[in-house]
Amino acid sequence: MPAVYALVAAAGSGSRLGFDQPKAFVELAGRTLLERALDGLARSEVIDHAIILVSPDMRETAEKLIQQDFNRASWAGMAVSVTLGGGERMDSVWAGLEELARREVPEDSLVAVHDAARCMTPPEMIARVVDSARYGAKHQAWSGSVPVVPVVDTIKVVDQARAGSADGEILLEQTPARDTLRAAQTPQVFRLDELREANLEYLATVEISSAHASRNTGNQPLMTATDDASLMEMAGKKVTAVDGELLAMKITTPLDYRVATMLLADLEDTDKGTTEEG
Ligand code: CTP
Ligand code: MG
Repeated sequence: MPAVYALVAAAGSGSRLGFDQPKAFVELAGRTLLERALDGLARSEVIDHAIILVSPDMRETAEKLIQQDFNRASWAGMAVSVTLGGGERMDSVWAGLEELARREVPEDSLVAVHDAARCMTPPEMIARVVDSARYGAKHQAWSGSVPVVPVVDTIKVVDQARAGSADGEILLEQTPARDTLRAAQTPQVFRLDELREANLEYLATVEISSAHASRNTGNQPLMTATDDASLMEMAGKKVTAVDGELLAMKITTPLDYRVATMLLADLEDTDKGTTEEG
């Protein structure tokens, strides 16, 4: 069976969360987001090797975390290593793909790209997404699988050119039908060769577009991809949706952090209850 590599994007600073350290090292109920994310990946029992992508100033701390006895025991069965990421999330993922190339990982391996910030993602959900991607690859039916949840808000498309303009007016342009919308989560799981191809195509487009933009300043910059599936879609590759979970929420703002703290307290109470009863 093809191996599964997780690329754990952890190189961000967490500016919106606003702690004085990188978000992946922020503690949530006594354990860092990064450690919690790795706990989930290990417990899913479907990941062979997790590669953590960090910024240069995070590297030493990350190396120490993965050497700790408690963590080594918790993640037994899953190899864990640390690699340098890049300036944007996309660059970090690309750095992870380059690391897999250096390791000469077989091209039919699966890659699960995961945000360290989605540190409460249920292990069963991780297994569900990997199973779906594995099935798609085996039957050549699709190149990847992505967890999604329904959207609760009505989403508007706004006139981006005017966003931030001096008068502060932003005009509403469109309202996509809500039942056609889903919020994408991670891990997003793809065949390694397909994800690499999609990244290379995207990087080529960015180069062409920035070369063009420097000659013609009226040109709109190319949209920055905020997830991996969007690159696959742009490259015309088939990606399927799998049921996500509200617990796979991304911790982005101080409100998310509060909510996550309360959720973990509830979950731990439930765990205690089950242990006491059983
Ligand atoms: N990430 C990354 N490399 C970057 C930027 C982000 O690996 N150059 C990771 C983050 O560490 C995070 C995930 O991508 O786990 C999702 O990004 P986000 O929630 O935006 O985290 P930050 O970029 O750290 O937060 P902010 O945008 O508020 O600064
Ligand atoms: Mg960010």
